[in-house]
Amino acid sequence: MTQNEIKLNHGQFLAAAERAEWKPQDIARRATVAEIFAREAALEVDFGSGDGAFILAMARRFPERNFLGIERMSGRVEKTCRAAARGDIENVRIVRLESLYTAQWLLPVGSASVVHIGFPDPWPKRHHHPRRLFQDEFMVALHQVVAAGGEVRIKTDDQPYFLWIEKVLERAKGFKRITWEEEADYPKTDFEAHFLAQGLAIYRARLRKV
Ligand SMILES: C[S@@+](CC[C@H](N)C(=O)[O-])C[C@H]1O[C@@H](n2cnc3c(N)ncnc32)[C@H](O)[C@@H]1O
Repeated sequence: MTQNEIKLNHGQFLAAAERAEWKPQDIARRATVAEIFAREAALEVDFGSGDGAFILAMARRFPERNFLGIERMSGRVEKTCRAAARGDIENVRIVRLESLYTAQWLLPVGSASVVHIGFPDPWPKRHHHPRRLFQDEFMVALHQVVAAGGEVRIKTDDQPYFLWIEKVLERAKGFKRITWEEEADYPKTDFEAHFLAQGLAIYRARLRKV
């Protein structure tokens, strides 16, 4: 049991976990940052945040920034929100929605200083390729959501999917590819830690909005 679990009674813990989940009032219009977070701060968005290890580590490391995770699986959303409450991390919100829809219709325009996309599902079968997150329409939606001069950071272990992503990135308008020298202590995602432990290569791309 952590210090914070001891500090919070069960009701307070549940309330903190509930606060960490962003439930949009209206999914038919773009939200404002004020509807998501109690304070204005630079926003970083993690599409497909999974069990939340990366977004929670980033939020701990950069308490002055706001972090929004988008994840469609309810169990993973709940796990991340409970971990945020346990860790007393107040600068994280998780929304249980689909990534493309959220970027196209819900996130405030020009709001994200950094977008992270770690290990998106590769959908290896050819007839499943239309389900891949990286499509031209996703890049158009990202361009709207990313702030002027903001960044997109992508990682995958799947080489065929990375080649596909690179083609999508080449076609995307309004971004330029920049180098990404990763810091050794930059937080790892759950999938990244898993693949690194197996000695697998990690492919990455970093873009700047121009
Ligand atoms: C392979 S996992 C990677 C999780 C995390 N980013 C990491 O690197 O550890 C992909 C995650 O994206 C979520 N996901 C896949 N497609 C999604 C979509 N269209 N919208 C929202 N979440 C999605 C999955 O539920 C899963 O949690």
